[in-house]
Order: sequence, then C-alpha cells, then structure tokens
Amino acid sequence: MKVLVTGGAGYIGSHMALELIDKNIEVIVLDNLASGFKKLIPPKAVFIKGDIGDLDLLNKIFNTHNFDAIAHFAADIKVEESIENPYKYYKNNTEKTLNFVNFLSLKKNQNLIFSSTAAVYDHLNNKLINEDDKLSPLNPYGYSKMMCEQIIKDIAKISTLNYFILRYFNVAGADPSLRSGQLTSKATHLIKVCVECALKKRPFLEIYGNDYLTTDGTCVRDYIHVSDLISGHLIALKHLINGGKSDICNLGYGYGYSVLEIVEKVKKVSGYNFTVKVKNKRRGDPSYLVSNPKKIKEIYGWNPSHNNIEKIIGSALDWEEKNNLIVWKIKKKCLFKLDFFGND
Ligand code: UFG
Repeated sequence: MKVLVTGGAGYIGSHMALELIDKNIEVIVLDNLASGFKKLIPPKAVFIKGDIGDLDLLNKIFNTHNFDAIAHFAADIKVEESIENPYKYYKNNTEKTLNFVNFLSLKKNQNLIFSSTAAVYDHLNNKLINEDDKLSPLNPYGYSKMMCEQIIKDIAKISTLNYFILRYFNVAGADPSLRSGQLTSKATHLIKVCVECALKKRPFLEIYGNDYLTTDGTCVRDYIHVSDLISGHLIALKHLINGGKSDICNLGYGYGYSVLEIVEKVKKVSGYNFTVKVKNKRRGDPSYLVSNPKKIKEIYGWNPSHNNIEKIIGSALDWEEKNNLIVWKIKKKCLFKLDFFGND
C-alpha cells in the first residue's frame, strides 16, 4: 500500500507518516517546508520538497506512483494570523486545495483524507458539536477550511473521488516514542505555550480574555492527543480503501477544559509554577468548542487510548524537554569549540 502525505513535515502530517511507516505502508511526503521541518519526516518516507499548488510536480509524482490514498495536511493553521492575513489562508488553504482536488478528480478513484477543523462550526451554545450542526466560522482560517470541504464535496459528486473529512478539535501532545511533536519556535497553541512557560522558555503566559460565558470565564476546548487523532485517520484510510462511502467526522473526546484548568494541569504535571497575565480577548476566538465524538466511535469504532489530559500534557512536556536537551547539547558543543579556540 502507498499513501501520499501532503504536509508530512508538519506536526500532524509527520505523525501520520510515522504511523503509516510503522504499519509497513509506503509513504511519499510532499511538503514545501514553509512551516514544516525536514527532521520530522520519518527516514523511511520518500521526501519530495514541493508545493501542492505545483501542477507539473503533481503530474510527475502521479506519473511515478499509484497511491491507495492521499492524506492532505498541508495548510496554514493559525487563527489570529488568518485574521491579519486572510489572503494567505484563502490562497494556501482554499485555492491550492481547489486545484489539488480538481487534479485528483481527473485521475480515477482517488481516496482523499482531508484535515479539517472544528473552526468551521458555529459555536454559540455551550453544547457538544455534531457533524450536521451549522457551519459558521468566526475567522478566515475556519472559512478557508469550510470552503475546502465544500469544494471536495462538490467535485466528488461529479467524479470518482472518494473522501473522508476529519474535523479536528485541539490537537496536542507528542508521539509516545518522541519521534515527532510540535516544533514551531513561535508557538501559539495553549498547551505548547504553557509547557514552554513551565520550562522557563517563556517568561509568562498571557490568557486571552477571562469574561467569556463559560464556568470560569476563559475559553473551553476539547484537547485531543495527536496519536488518537492519527488513529482516526487510519480508520478513515481503511474505510476508503475497502470501498466505503465518503463521510465527515469529528475528532475530539467530547469534554473540554478551560484555559485556567489547562494552566493548573500544566503546573501540576510539570511541578513548576509560572506567571499568568490576563490580556484582551484574541480576535476570532470562539468561547466553547467541544466535540460530540459519537459518530466516529459508534459507526467506525474509534477507540482513543490517550484520552487523559495529564497524559497529553506529560507527552508535550517530554517532547519539549527532549528538544531543550538537544539545544543544550548543541550550545555546549559550540561553547566547547569556542573554548577550544581560545575565546572566552
Ligand atoms: N490561549 C491563551 N493564551 C495563549 C494561547 C492560547 O489564552 O498563549 C487560549 C486561546 O485564546 C483559546 C485557547 O487558549 O481560547 C486555545 O487556543 P489555541 O491557540 O491553543 O487553539 P485554538 O482553539 O485557537 O485553535 C486550535 C487550532 C485550530 C483549530 C481549533 C479547533 O489552532 O486549527 O483549535 O478547536 F481549528
């Protein structure tokens, strides 16, 4: 079996590539390295540096390989950035996906697994979100993904394209063997930022608003371990390969934690205190996003095994500490070299 993983040098895409390789599935990673890291790509994957918007490259790749499925992760993912620079999101997420999906539809019987997001939903009520709830994003990022979903559905209607759209809630944590994790230097995701504060990589945490209509006034999210997220993709892959019908599912656990609760958990799990400052609300932030995971569990048998917030935070901490150690070793080596050459 062979799978093309777009965005396979990114946080989630690299976990997918690792899982496929662990299952002895051939992986071709296509990534332009705009936000991904070559070192996250599993050594056994074939890496092609390039862009999903490059049709000549796509033609070359598809003339060389027959894929059983395509897992399309390549995208920009920062909510606030999408408000500041909507063009980037409609260009990189929507337009490139439009051309990519159109390209796939011109081939026969392609199976597409698409990374979507809980940011596509309307979220005004503090209730669990079902797949058929109203879509009404609060920000261009959510719109860019909602448009991709529509494009995929419409093109699939008039072609032999099969798809499985997965709407992610808040993905966190790292590969249990620490082969991959979140690596960005300008992290914006809450658990990663808290972990960086605990490990003194940041001086303090800013909480974006504490007067939301939630139990403690801070936003509530459904944090899902990246390995459970990927097990959902494996289910989607099996379903499509066995000729199953196209579908859309949420990937979240069905319960949420507020920002303040996450802060307390990170302090407890790490054993370190850190300073917290309450700031203005972040634009485009929904107050409450929690999944109803009934569909993927009951219809497809998804059975998450890392659904424990302390375990998720623990794995994020382990990953961060591993990277600290690498940075420390590099610094030590440099200092040693400086010392060796007589500098002080
Ligand atoms: N937050 C802070 N301080 C920080 C970082 C985050 O208070 O330093 C708050 C945010 O305001 C938000 C919550 O923590 O209320 C979670 O924020 P994240 O940035 O971790 O994640 P988002 O919910 O904004 O977005 C993430 C992904 C999206 C996805 C969404 C789905 O980035 O791609 O989860 O729930 F759509």
